[in-house]
Amino acid sequence: MAGILQGRKIALGVTGSIAAYKACELVRLFSKAGAETAVVMTEAATKFVTPLVFRTLSRRPVALDAFAEPENWVPGHVSLADWCDAFVVAPCTAHTAAKLAHGYAGDLLSSVALACRRPKLLAPAMNAGMWENPATQDNFALLRRRGVVVMTPPEGELACGVSGPGRMPEPAAVLAAVEGLFAR
Ligand SMILES: Cc1cc2nc3c(=O)[nH]c(=O)nc-3n(C[C@H](O)[C@H](O)[C@H](O)COP(=O)(O)O)c2cc1C
Repeated sequence: MAGILQGRKIALGVTGSIAAYKACELVRLFSKAGAETAVVMTEAATKFVTPLVFRTLSRRPVALDAFAEPENWVPGHVSLADWCDAFVVAPCTAHTAAKLAHGYAGDLLSSVALACRRPKLLAPAMNAGMWENPATQDNFALLRRRGVVVMTPPEGELACGVSGPGRMPEPAAVLAAVEGLFAR
């Protein structure tokens, strides 16, 4: 039986978190569920996982540069924003959440987010101090008020060596939350 993601088009934003490796598994899960994934990475994300990994897993070119020559005349951020059925950022850094909350569009990922009218879901990942900082909490609260689904990062051991909230939700949990976007 075809699942709810069968034939869906997902734009997956990957940002500069140590949890970027989890996005690789997420692409595989989307693909197994019958969805097509177009990955857009921030420059910081490319320090953690190479675009080559995502290009191979998603079987599509990875979008990196807002000023790259587009396939046709439509700017890359507009075509990706219109192409997708949902926009997911996993992992979502504190920096990217701040950009999205305040409408900054200085890179390709944030431009796609601003141009996109489809349902959006963020899977935050960061150090517990960054997560608990009122600036971060306010940014995510603002995004939630605007209808963006913000997953709650589970507590646990963090890459920085301490324990606390801020771990990126596991790829299977992100998949289930994205299915929930389409079930609404
Ligand atoms: C090793 C390392 C791990 C990092 N992990 C995170 C993280 O999990 N979450 C986060 O918000 N920032 C993290 N950062 C900081 C971001 O990479 C930095 O704020 C960057 O500017 C984010 O840019 P972006 O949101 O455009 O990808 C990390 C930095 C380093 C060097």
